[in-house]
Amino acid sequence: MKFHIQTWGCQMNDHDGEKLSGLLSTEGFEAVDSAEDAELVLLNTCSIREKAVHKVYSELGRLREEKQRRPLMVGVTGCLAQQEQAALFKRAPHIDFVLGTMALRQLPRLVAEAQAGKSQVMDTGEYLDNHLFPPSVTRRRDTAKALVTITEGCNHACTYCIVPTTRGSERHRPYEDVLAEVRGLVERGYREVELLGQNVNSYAGGCTFADLLERVSEVEGLEWIRFTTSHPMNFTKELARVLVSTPKVAPFLHLPLQSGSDRVLRRMLREYTVGEYLERLGYLGEGRAKLALSTDFIVGFPGETDEDFEATMKVLDEVAFDSSFSFIYSPRPGTASLRLKDDLPMDVKSERLKRLQQRQNELTRASNERFLGREIPVRVETHGPNEHGWWLARSGEWKTVHLAAGPGRELPFGELVQARVTLASPHFLGAELV
Ligand code: 5AD
Ligand code: SF4
Repeated sequence: MKFHIQTWGCQMNDHDGEKLSGLLSTEGFEAVDSAEDAELVLLNTCSIREKAVHKVYSELGRLREEKQRRPLMVGVTGCLAQQEQAALFKRAPHIDFVLGTMALRQLPRLVAEAQAGKSQVMDTGEYLDNHLFPPSVTRRRDTAKALVTITEGCNHACTYCIVPTTRGSERHRPYEDVLAEVRGLVERGYREVELLGQNVNSYAGGCTFADLLERVSEVEGLEWIRFTTSHPMNFTKELARVLVSTPKVAPFLHLPLQSGSDRVLRRMLREYTVGEYLERLGYLGEGRAKLALSTDFIVGFPGETDEDFEATMKVLDEVAFDSSFSFIYSPRPGTASLRLKDDLPMDVKSERLKRLQQRQNELTRASNERFLGREIPVRVETHGPNEHGWWLARSGEWKTVHLAAGPGRELPFGELVQARVTLASPHFLGAELV
């Protein structure tokens, strides 16, 4: 059977896709690049905002038509599956099976049951060992950086967020398992890993997250370690020290702020004030200058006033984030923020988002301009140049680098090369091979 997995959402979802792909490959199924060529299409979904959910339903609509023309099995997994469970069958009766985010290893069984003619097959059980997925089964996509699960789930309760519902509460992978997987990856040629969890900072798999970073950094042959994602309240002094003083930990920190207004942060149940957030950035000391800082913002949270929003703009400037992701608040089913009055007109929210993003573009351009003329190590992330002759690469600071290698020159995929930065735009750096 030929299968295709379509993934939306975050790195955890990407990595789940790699695990699911491994499970099917082990069963003798064959991965294909497009849904058109597949006999089984698995939608690996995201439900963080309404837009993400729309994309899934529109793809489901397309698959319904396709199913009328040819034999096709359709499965839904990921956060929308965990959130909606059996309600998905009502909305889209052509779905053959629904697989929850904590039941990954049940996939072969669900497929077999659907193949045997059973309809509306589902497992959304909360398997508490889901995070102990065997690394030997995982079938990674062809990327320069390898994703590695260290924790699953989230114990915070931000009022806007669907993730505690869709991913359950925290489970941690023993650090020995993490180290063994990283060593295996390096043996297979990977030079960079990204440690994954809904909140990696609260890691408790036999040591702290700061300890884990140090232990992983001792793996010989590994060059860069990244991690995603962090909660400011679990960002410790010790972690800050390890981040700025361990050469293998890439100089990049994504620390979601969400809002620059204490009043809004309280209503979001973020558990910190702006002052406390800034204090934590202060833990980085002088090492901060070397790091690229990134954050997330939610604009137009229920009850956000002009004053609240101006406070966000102020912190944006004060910190001068190197990059940020910003979104208009999207009400999610079952979340606490649904009870808050949300009467701000959409055009006001859009206007605020636009202003924030424009300012961020200026800050990102300034951040990128600081690289002009510098020689930096970048990792080659493509197998060849694109139609403009650029190879795609990444710097340690997670900047996208468009790299000119010179005619006919081959660059080693996944390896570090030295590049001289010749151009800074708000979205990428241009560079020449040294
Ligand atoms: N509406 C808008 N943005 C959201 N995020 C999480 N939940 C919502 C929501 N309901 C954003 C947060 C988070 C990022 C991954 O997505 O900024 O950090
Ligand atoms: Fe989307 Fe959040 Fe689920 Fe990731 S964890 S897929 S961002 S809803």
